[in-house]
Amino acid sequence: MPDCLITGCSQLLTLRGPVPRRGKALRNLGIIPDGAILIHEDRIAAIGPHRRIEKLRQARRAEKIDLAGRVVLPGFVDSHTHLIFPNSRAKEYEERIAGASYEEIAKKGGGIRSTVDTLRRATPSALKKRAIANLNLFATHGTTTIESKSGYGLDWKSELKILTLLSELHQEHPLDIHSTFLGAHVVPREYRSRPESYVKLLVDRWIPAVAMAGLAEFCDVFCDRGAFTVAQSRKILAAGRAGGLVPRIHAEQLANTGAARLAIELQAASADHLEKINAADIRALALSNVVCTLLPGCCFHLGLRDYGPARKLIDSGAIVGLATDFNPGTSPTLSMSMILSLACTQMRMTPAEAITAATINPAYSLRAHDRAGSLEVGKYADIAAFDVADYREIPYYFGVNLCAFTMKRGAVIHSKNL
Ligand code: NIG
Ligand code: FE
Repeated sequence: MPDCLITGCSQLLTLRGPVPRRGKALRNLGIIPDGAILIHEDRIAAIGPHRRIEKLRQARRAEKIDLAGRVVLPGFVDSHTHLIFPNSRAKEYEERIAGASYEEIAKKGGGIRSTVDTLRRATPSALKKRAIANLNLFATHGTTTIESKSGYGLDWKSELKILTLLSELHQEHPLDIHSTFLGAHVVPREYRSRPESYVKLLVDRWIPAVAMAGLAEFCDVFCDRGAFTVAQSRKILAAGRAGGLVPRIHAEQLANTGAARLAIELQAASADHLEKINAADIRALALSNVVCTLLPGCCFHLGLRDYGPARKLIDSGAIVGLATDFNPGTSPTLSMSMILSLACTQMRMTPAEAITAATINPAYSLRAHDRAGSLEVGKYADIAAFDVADYREIPYYFGVNLCAFTMKRGAVIHSKNL
């Protein structure tokens, strides 16, 4: 691959600086006006003002890409998705609009368990085709790294089917995919009358097997009303940790259960959702290294009023991140710019805070901040460019995709009107 020189970045948001970002530091985007980036193979070789970079000897010989005044930032890092699922749940969407709640639908056999039923019957090739189409959409929306969970299989064969697909897709598709084992998404139908046996199966067999085979980096639990208790979640995440799987947790989405405290106790990489946390939880999270990953797409899609307390978390000094939670039940979007719009208008994050929470902080939660999440010498050339005049216009123009160009590890994977 020849070296590549990217110019025409009217605002180049580098996100350079301390990792992770807390408090006021979330507003610091490290902007270079009229910036340029020199790329050698998959990495950034130089970055700075255009006048300086163009004079480098390597730059003169490089292939040129002129972004014609676009706003340029690190590719989004989406640290919470459920990429592998067989179909939409549009029927439940309509039932909720008519007044049914997410939990009522789940109790009647809908929700996660209905996706599980369909996924178990789906062929790997059908699941893969859908996942590739969605990965391509992530790329056209400026996302270059995702995390994805298993969790719609909930029997060994089907969970393995998902984790194997994730590992194939990571190899074959340009996007980087970090895998998380979510065997503890809900208690599957077969174990409904004996949940402890399912927990034991996870702890004694599946988690060690996943860890041993290197099929996941992280272990997650849906620790909430109607899913797993704090005591069960502790056992599951501890088993993961014993095998080298770093804990993440679905916490405090439906009820305040103590899941956020568990995340702190177990030094989880991330605690996600957090809509129902209280003031003491916020203080404790602020003193920890757990990334508080807010998922405003869920509140929007479920039509709920109480978004996560982003302002209080940031002002208290917590590490805040944002993710899509792309899944068929609560958040069927893969657009990080839509998530930024929701974060700004519904949770009162500033556009700068939202961008930091969508790049370097989630990269930290994925333990990938040495290569992703900011544009600095030595890091991956993972770059997104938007058709806007100012970075604040990325959330401002809500509901449209203005991403014009995406580069992943030095390769152009999306380009529009360039
Ligand atoms: O993050 N809360 C648990 N898991 C998903 C929902 C999954 C589903 O409804 O299919 C979430 O919101
Ligand atoms: Fe989720």
